[in-house]
Amino acid sequence: MYKSEQLAASLRNLIENGYWKENEKLPSLRQQVETSGFSLITVMNAYQELEAQGLIYSLEKKGYFIKEKNIKENHPNNIVMNDNIKINSTVFKYLKSIQSDNIIPFGSAFPDSQLLYSAKLMQMLGQKTKDQSTYQQTPSLPPGHFELRKQIAQRYSMQGIVTDPSDIVITSGGLDALNLSLQVLTQPGDYILLQETTFYGAWQAAEHLGLKVISIPDHPEGFDLEAFKNAIEIYPIKVCWLMLNSQNPIGYTVSDELKYEIAKILHEKEIYLIEDDVYEELYFDQKKPLSMKYFDQQNRVLHCSSFSKTLGAVFRVGWVYAGPFTEHIQHLQLMQTLSVNPLIQSTLSEYLSHRHYEKHLKNLRKNLKRLKLQYFQFFKDHLPENCTIEYFPSGYFLWIILPKNMNSHVIYNQLILKKISIAPSSLFTRNRLSNQIRVNCSFEISENIQYALDQLIQCVQMENDSLNTGQDQSIV
Ligand SMILES: Cc1ncc(COP(=O)(O)O)c(C=O)c1O
Repeated sequence: MYKSEQLAASLRNLIENGYWKENEKLPSLRQQVETSGFSLITVMNAYQELEAQGLIYSLEKKGYFIKEKNIKENHPNNIVMNDNIKINSTVFKYLKSIQSDNIIPFGSAFPDSQLLYSAKLMQMLGQKTKDQSTYQQTPSLPPGHFELRKQIAQRYSMQGIVTDPSDIVITSGGLDALNLSLQVLTQPGDYILLQETTFYGAWQAAEHLGLKVISIPDHPEGFDLEAFKNAIEIYPIKVCWLMLNSQNPIGYTVSDELKYEIAKILHEKEIYLIEDDVYEELYFDQKKPLSMKYFDQQNRVLHCSSFSKTLGAVFRVGWVYAGPFTEHIQHLQLMQTLSVNPLIQSTLSEYLSHRHYEKHLKNLRKNLKRLKLQYFQFFKDHLPENCTIEYFPSGYFLWIILPKNMNSHVIYNQLILKKISIAPSSLFTRNRLSNQIRVNCSFEISENIQYALDQLIQCVQMENDSLNTGQDQSIV
């Protein structure tokens, strides 16, 4: 290997590990000669090599700078090709920051536990704990507890999706189901398609598996069909990972007509879909929205869901309707998570076999609807006029769009000092505009919560005022 290649390789390593920020200046040629001990010509060749590889760019008389690596190409319809995704450490830091017990959890992804653990469910768990026969069974190995899979299969059938328990694999939560599905369907370097603003777990999984992500822009109807069609024409997309019901973080539910259109295209192009449907039960209207699985004629949809958003983290059991991929998923499980807690599986199966779950869901929806409307009204009345609040009749998140020049991370930083969490949009999108926040509105408005809401408003107002003042000054 030439010396210049050696130097280029070690600089590349530093760049890819985030040693320098995007658009940051690299050491000058002279500085690099001094620190590396290589000759000027070697250093110049190394920099030119990195420029040719698209990692850095040069500006005349200014030097070399780090290229914006996440976004390589922009297409019509704002389809974006994202590779070299780096989000895991951001999510890790964020989740650590909101973990302390006394934080007011507007940033949490779980509904308030007060709404989740029904007395009946906890009583059943208590009984199961005392029952010796529960411990003698070994049905926890993949694909999971048969009775639980049967109950889940029946729930699909209630929606017109005829299902056999053998199509279903029980997993350690929804995220496990999604990750296993993605592992089964992809190899490093494959192209997958995501919605631009989406659950960070999808970005993390793509980073972890070394996938290239094509993202399509957010759309008022929840899905940009034209951009989707274009993306599929331009790139060899293997898998789409979509969330179309009560989408996290924005909250919309895509219409059945649009779902049908998407399904038709997936069918024609023989593309797989991983459907994230963990909020499927949290609709406020009379009728449960259909899943994409409903339209799946070719067994190309892997439908993933979970009990964690309806019954809480203690019952964090998920599943994937994996159809022909059940074997493969089980193989992966045997090497990774191995098994899901048998006591919890057994309790869930009993709970579902009565009408308890239905009753609980009805109550939960009623409470979430009431609380979401209360929060919506509060924000509408108190946030500055240049903010928009997206309200959709499902789930427990409000998506607040702050003025374009406001950075939601600044609001997050200020609030976390006051022990209040929110979820800034940088967790969910690679888009440079980061002026949205997700607020969990499942908490009864107690004195504490009211205080936190007031702080949030005050923070946004102050930031808004200072940005406006700054703007005025710059105009003058
Ligand atoms: C959209 C979405 N998908 C999947 C998951 C993971 O679900 P679970 O907690 O069951 O692993 C979450 C959790 O926050 C989520 O918000």
